[in-house]
Amino acid sequence: MDKIRVAVIGNGIIGEQHIKRHADNPDVEIVALCDIDEARLNLMGDKYGVARRFTHIGKLLAEGDIQAVDVCLHNNLHAPVSIAAMEAGKDVYCEKPMAGTFADALAMFNAMERTGRKLHIQLALIYEDATKAAKRFIDAGRLGRLYHMRSYGFRRRGRPFVDGYATKEFVNSTTSGGGALFDMGVYHISQLLYLAGVPKLQRVTGATYAEVAMDEGRRRESGFNVEELGTGFAFYEGGLTLDILESWAIHAKSFPPSILCGSDGGLSLSPLTFHSTENEMIADTVVDLKAMNYLDHTVHAGTAHYDHTQTHWIHALLGRCPLLPTAKIALETQRVQEGIYLSARLGREIAAEEIETISVSRALDVPNL
Ligand SMILES: NC(=O)c1ccc[n+]([C@@H]2O[C@H](COP(=O)([O-])OP(=O)(O)OC[C@H]3O[C@@H](n4cnc5c(N)ncnc54)[C@H](O)[C@@H]3O)[C@@H](O)[C@H]2O)c1
Repeated sequence: MDKIRVAVIGNGIIGEQHIKRHADNPDVEIVALCDIDEARLNLMGDKYGVARRFTHIGKLLAEGDIQAVDVCLHNNLHAPVSIAAMEAGKDVYCEKPMAGTFADALAMFNAMERTGRKLHIQLALIYEDATKAAKRFIDAGRLGRLYHMRSYGFRRRGRPFVDGYATKEFVNSTTSGGGALFDMGVYHISQLLYLAGVPKLQRVTGATYAEVAMDEGRRRESGFNVEELGTGFAFYEGGLTLDILESWAIHAKSFPPSILCGSDGGLSLSPLTFHSTENEMIADTVVDLKAMNYLDHTVHAGTAHYDHTQTHWIHALLGRCPLLPTAKIALETQRVQEGIYLSARLGREIAAEEIETISVSRALDVPNL
């Protein structure tokens, strides 16, 4: 097997970026494109030279020669399409967040286990040099006992659609399931959960807000009904805590970088800095990530398998490396996010088990599946 035969479902803003990266990858053959919007489908098909085009996802999934699908649809379409694809025998790469609710993400995870297919979720920060360097400090035991993490994500004014970039489906819960906490929080929270070894959630509390003024025309047109600011505090097994602050819009100066605090050392993730006490002296070690990256790629075998989320999936499908457990990391990210939403709605702390019982599917009926 020298090339993976991929179809890209959803050819919008991010779909085009995925198509482009696949087209530049000698390990991939883009065998088909699919979008319900025929004009967009033909635009992308013509631009990237893909002749086989589908407006019906179900018909695409019935094609035996398509080995893998890349799902670039809106959040509440991720679960039904990814599950149908895995049941049709395809490996799946799906955009973040995993789904529109924890229940839907869990259904995707269960479908992956049931079908034995490879499900990969786009969690881009895991492949950054800063994350790789942080993991080395952690794996070497330099943090001692990890006891607290802070996940920060800051935009002063960057709500999708109402503040400019991207489509209105991002800010309406019918299609998106959530706001800032989902859209951007997924990157920052998943990065920390990955570094902490995907700990088990015990309980969580949180609040969400949408207070900053926006263009009224765009508000009406989109039906904006998600949070622009999400805050949460979560307790994990072993006494580890996680503080979350994720903003699409806020009247504040930029937030500090995400941090991990351990008994022997700590990490700031941007710029990557290791904080420690050396011989009773306070020390901050700044890592030369460029030099690390060079050494890794020239001296250490296999580094290129982890350069980018999309190429990592292809390398894993080609059997060159094990697939990172992004489905599990994304599921646990979704668990704490939904816990915050539930806490905000019910006005109390939420136990981890409750999230599983209360969460319901918000997956949309897909007319063309
Ligand atoms: N835009 C970004 O910068 C960005 C970045 C990272 C991740 N994402 C994620 O990518 C996903 C899509 O976002 P986007 O910005 O590309 O949205 P988009 O609106 O630009 O594109 C979505 C595409 O899906 C198509 N579509 C809708 N329903 C369909 C159906 N039933 N069958 C086939 N096609 C259908 C639409 O016609 C559209 O072309 C979201 O989950 C988002 O979180 C987006």
